Amino acid sequence: MTILLLGSGGREHAFAWKMIQSPLCEKLFVAPGNAGTAAIATNVAMSATDFEAIKTFVIKENVSMVVVGPEDPLVKGIYDYFKNDESLQHIPVIGPSKVGATLEGSKEFAKEFLVRHNIPTAAYDSFTAETVEKGCDFLTTLQPPYVLKADGLAAGKGVLIIQDLAEAQTELRNMLIGQKFGEASSKVVIEEFLDGIELSCFVLTDGKNYKILPTAKDYKRIGEGDTGLNTGGMGAVSPVSFVDDVLMEKIETRIVKPTIDGFQKDGIEYKGFVFIGLINVNNEPIVIEYNVRMGDPETEVVIPRLKTDLVALFQAVAKQELDTIDLEIDPRSATTIMVVSGGYPEEYEKGKEISGIEKITDSIVFHAGTSLESGKVVTNGGRVLAITSYGEDFKEAIKKSYQNIDKIHFDQMYFRRDIGNDL
Ligand code: AMP
Ligand code: GLY
Repeated sequence: MTILLLGSGGREHAFAWKMIQSPLCEKLFVAPGNAGTAAIATNVAMSATDFEAIKTFVIKENVSMVVVGPEDPLVKGIYDYFKNDESLQHIPVIGPSKVGATLEGSKEFAKEFLVRHNIPTAAYDSFTAETVEKGCDFLTTLQPPYVLKADGLAAGKGVLIIQDLAEAQTELRNMLIGQKFGEASSKVVIEEFLDGIELSCFVLTDGKNYKILPTAKDYKRIGEGDTGLNTGGMGAVSPVSFVDDVLMEKIETRIVKPTIDGFQKDGIEYKGFVFIGLINVNNEPIVIEYNVRMGDPETEVVIPRLKTDLVALFQAVAKQELDTIDLEIDPRSATTIMVVSGGYPEEYEKGKEISGIEKITDSIVFHAGTSLESGKVVTNGGRVLAITSYGEDFKEAIKKSYQNIDKIHFDQMYFRRDIGNDL
C-alpha cells in the first residue's frame, strides 16, 4: 500500500526506516521529511498542517494510510478532518481524534481526565487572568519548589519550576497577564512538585486494545550533568534499567489500562501513540503529562528495538484488532546521541555541510534537522542527527555511538558526552 508519513524529524526518519522494511509498504511519502527520509522514501514539499494540500495529495497519489509524527496536525484535528470528509473517510489516520489530542494540547484537560479516571497525578489547580490573585494565594499553600504549567502548547518550554515564592507569584502574573507564552499561558496549571526519577511509557492503542512499547529515558537539558536550557532531547536510552517488572505492573494496571478505558468511557476516538510522562516517587509511578505522539529522540531507540512489522501494527490499529498481534522486542539495548547545531536551543546557524555520515556502518544515523542542497547534506535545524546503536547493554551501545560521532563533522557541531552516565 501507499503510505503518507507526516513530519520531518528524527522520529519520522526512524518511522520511515522501519516502515519501508515492511512487505506491506509499497510506496512511502514523507511530508515534508528531511535528507534522511529523502534517501529511503519520497519527500513531498508540503506542511504537515496544510490539510487542504494533504487532501489533494492523498487523493492524487491514492494514499491508503496516513501516519502522523508530530502533535501539531493532531491537535489541529487531522483525524477529524479525514473522518468528516467523504472523499477521505476510508483512509485511516494513525493518531488520535482532536479531542484525544487535547490531552497534549491542554494541561488542564489532561489533569481533569486523570482525576476523572482515578489515575495517579500531582495535586493541582488552574487559574486564568481573572483568578490570578487566587493563584498567588494558592501558591502560599504549597511547599517549594513551585510548578507552573502553561495550559497550551508552548514548544516544550511552558513549564516553570521555581524555588522562591515571590518569584513564582511574579512568573504566574507574567504568564497570565503578561502572556509570557502567548495564548498558551492564558490559563496556568499550578501543580504539586514531585520528587523522583522521570521515565516515559509508550503505548500504541486502537482505542480499545493496547500494546506497551519498550521504555525509554531521554536527556532534556543542553548541558552535561543535566544543566542549562531545556531542549527537545539530547539523547535516549532503552530499556530504562531501573524499571523492573513490579514497577511496570503498577504502570500498566494503575495508569495504562485506566487511560485506555478512560478513552472508551469518555467516547474519545484514539488510534495512535500515547506517550505517558511519569515520575517514579518511591516506586509509585505518577503521571506528569500525556503526549499524543511518540517522543523524539525516544523513537530513535524504541523503534529499532521493535521486531514486529510496524505497518502491520498500524493496520491492526486502524481495524481495532491490535489484540491479534503480539509484540516482539529485541532484547538488546539501544541508545541514541543527538548531534546538534552550536547555539541550540537558542540561536544557531543553518546550512552547514555535514561530512562523514557514509563512514558509519555499525550505527544507524537518523536525520533530524537536515536537508539536501545541490546534492549535499546540510544542517537545517537545531537537532541535526541522532546516532543510534545497539549493544548487549547500554554501555556498549553508547560507546559505539560515541565512536561513530567522531567520524561526523560540521561547523559548530555539539553533543553531550554524558548520555547514560547517570544509569
Ligand atoms: P511537562 O511538559 O509536563 O513534561 O514538564 C516538563 C518537565 O517539568 C518534566 O519533564 C519534568 O522534569 C518537570 N515536571 C513537570 N511536572 C512536574 C512535577 N509535578 N513535579 C516535578 N517536576 C515536574
Ligand atoms: N523527548 C521528549 C518529547 O518528545 O517530548
